[in-house]
Amino acid sequence: MCGIVGYIGKNQAAPFLLEGLSKLEYRGYDSAGIAVYDGSHIRVEKSVGRLASLRDKIEGDMPQGAVGIGHTRWATHGRPSDRNAHPHTDCSGDFVIVHNGIIENYLSLKEELIAKGHEFQSETDTEVVAHLMEEVYNGDFEAAVREVLGRIEGSYALVFLSRKDPDRIICTKQDNPLVIGLGDGENFIASDIPAIIARTRRTYILNDGEFAVVKKDSVWVTNREGEPVTKKVFEVNWNAEAAEKGGYEHFMLKEIHEQPKAVRDTVSPRLSKDGKSIIMNELNWNREFLDSIKKIFIVACGTAYNAGLVGKYYIEKLARVPVEIDIASEFRYRDPIIDEDTLTIVLSQSGETSDTLAALKESKRQGAKTLAITNVVGSSIAREADQVIYTWAGPEIAVASTKAYTTQLIIMFMLSLYMSGIRGTQSQERISELLEALKKVPAQVSETLEDVEPIKTFAKQYGFNEDVFYIGRSLDYDVSLEGALKLKEISYIHAEAYAAGELKHGTLALIIEGVPVIALATQKNVYEKTLSNIKEVKARDAVVIGIAAEGDNELEKYVDHVIKVPETDELLIPVLTVVPLQLLAYYAAITRGCDVDKPRNLAKSVTVE
Ligand code: M6R
Repeated sequence: MCGIVGYIGKNQAAPFLLEGLSKLEYRGYDSAGIAVYDGSHIRVEKSVGRLASLRDKIEGDMPQGAVGIGHTRWATHGRPSDRNAHPHTDCSGDFVIVHNGIIENYLSLKEELIAKGHEFQSETDTEVVAHLMEEVYNGDFEAAVREVLGRIEGSYALVFLSRKDPDRIICTKQDNPLVIGLGDGENFIASDIPAIIARTRRTYILNDGEFAVVKKDSVWVTNREGEPVTKKVFEVNWNAEAAEKGGYEHFMLKEIHEQPKAVRDTVSPRLSKDGKSIIMNELNWNREFLDSIKKIFIVACGTAYNAGLVGKYYIEKLARVPVEIDIASEFRYRDPIIDEDTLTIVLSQSGETSDTLAALKESKRQGAKTLAITNVVGSSIAREADQVIYTWAGPEIAVASTKAYTTQLIIMFMLSLYMSGIRGTQSQERISELLEALKKVPAQVSETLEDVEPIKTFAKQYGFNEDVFYIGRSLDYDVSLEGALKLKEISYIHAEAYAAGELKHGTLALIIEGVPVIALATQKNVYEKTLSNIKEVKARDAVVIGIAAEGDNELEKYVDHVIKVPETDELLIPVLTVVPLQLLAYYAAITRGCDVDKPRNLAKSVTVE
C-alpha cells in the first residue's frame, strides 16, 4: 500500500524522506519518489522498483533543501513505472502532490482538465489533483487545496507542496491514515508511525476531513469547514527497535517468535488479579446490553477473516449468540440484514483495511452496534467503531500476518468467555477450566517454537511441490485455511484448505502420489472422522504431515510425519497448531528463495478497494 512522508524544518529533507520511506517498505510498493524544494524549484526524482533504485539514481546528487515530500506507490491506476510513480506535478511544476487512496471521479476531471489544455504525464488518478491545483490557484495555497478537495471524490491521504508557498506543507486525509510527527524546529508527516519514530514520539493523528498546515515551527489543524481543531498529542510508547528486525533474518520470523509475548500481553491485562475472571474494561457490557443483541456479524479480510471464523465458533459455543461471518468486500455489497439488534465485530490488524472500514461504516449507518478488534491504536477502524478492543501484539511489519492472528484468536476467546459469564451460558467450573488453560497458552506457544528442525526438514523436502493441501474439521479446518493462506502468500505454492469431510465431493480428484497433505486432527468430536479422511488421502498415495496434540499416540500410525503441539483445551489449540503452519510457510518460502517480508503483488495494509 502506498506510503507517504513529508519533512519541513532546519535540516536537509531528502535524508529523512528516504529513511522514512524505508520504514514504510513493509506496506508493499512498486516504485518510489521524492520531491524537494531547492530554494527556487521543486526537484522531483522517482524510480520504479525498490527504494534502492531511487537511491542509486540520486547518489552523489541528492536533492538539496529543507522541505520535501516522498512516496512509495502500490499501483492501482496505471502499471508500475517511473512516470506513474509519485510525486505528481501540474504542468508548471509549481504544485507537487503525493497521494494514498483512489480519486474515484478522476476520469471526468481529467477530461475537463485536458479540454482546458493541461498535459498529463501519467496514467494515475492522482495527477488530476496537481492539475486541479494549477487550475484553481489564485494566490492562496490553502484556499486552493480546499477548493480541490471540494472537487474530488474518493479516499485519500494527500500531501501538497507548492513552489509559491514553500514555507508550508499542507496535508489532509479521508479514509487513509496520516500522522504528523512534532519535532523541535522541524515537523514530519507520514502514513504510519514507524517512519517517524526515530525522529520523534510526539504525534498528531489526523482524523478524516482534518486539514493540517505544517510549517517548521507550527502545525495548524482545522476541520472541513475551516474551524480550528485542538489536537491532543499522541505519545508513541513503543520502541524504535520494536519496528526493526531485532537480529532475525526477516520480520515474519521475528514476529512468529514474538507470539508468546504478544499472547501474554493480550491476555494479562484482561485477567482479574485472582485469575478467576475476565475483565474487559473496554466494554463494560451487561446482561441488558447482551440480551438486546439478536445477531452478531463478524467482518474482516484475509488472516483476520480466518481468525473471525474461529471467533464465530467461540461465540456460538461459549456465549450461545448466533454469529454470521463475512468477508468485508462481500458484506458491503450483499445487502445484509442489519438493525439496532445487530452487533458488528470487525477484525483488522492494521485498522486501515478499506473494505473492513467500509463494512463498519455501513453497519453503523444501518443502526448496528459496532466493536473493532484491532492492533493499531488510533487507526481509522478504531476511531470509527463504537467500542474497541486492542490486541497488544506490537507493530506487525511483515506482510504475512502471524502474531496478529494468534492475538485475535485470544481476544475472540476472551470476549466469548466474558459474554458467557454475563449470559450465564457456561458453568463456573467450565469457565475456570478454560481460564486455567488460557494462562498456560503463552508458555505453550514458546514450547511450539522450541524445535523447528523437523519443520525446516519438511520445508526442504516438500518446498518445491506445486500444490499442497490442508485438511481438518471444525476448528482444525479454520486453522487449515490460515495455514494455506500463509503458504501461498509467501512461497507462491498453490495451497488450498478443505473441510476434510468435503474431500469426497471433488477435491479428492486432485490427490495423487506424492502430493503433500497437511492434516490437522485435534478436535475430539470429529477425530475419528478426520482419521478416515486421512486414510482416504493416504490410499491415493499422498504424503501426509499430521498435526496433533502431545497426548495423541494414534495419528502417527496413519501419517508419514507428525508435528505435535502441547496439550490444551481443544478450544485453545488453534493458537498452538497455527504456529508450525506459520513456520512451515516461512521455511518453504526460504527454500524457494522468496522475498518473505515483501511477497510479490501484496501489501501489508490494503487501504484501497
Ligand atoms: O490489517 P488487516 O487485518 O485488516 O488486514 C487484512 C488482510 O489484508 C491481511 O490479514 C492479509 O490477508 C495478510 N497478508 C495475511 O497474512
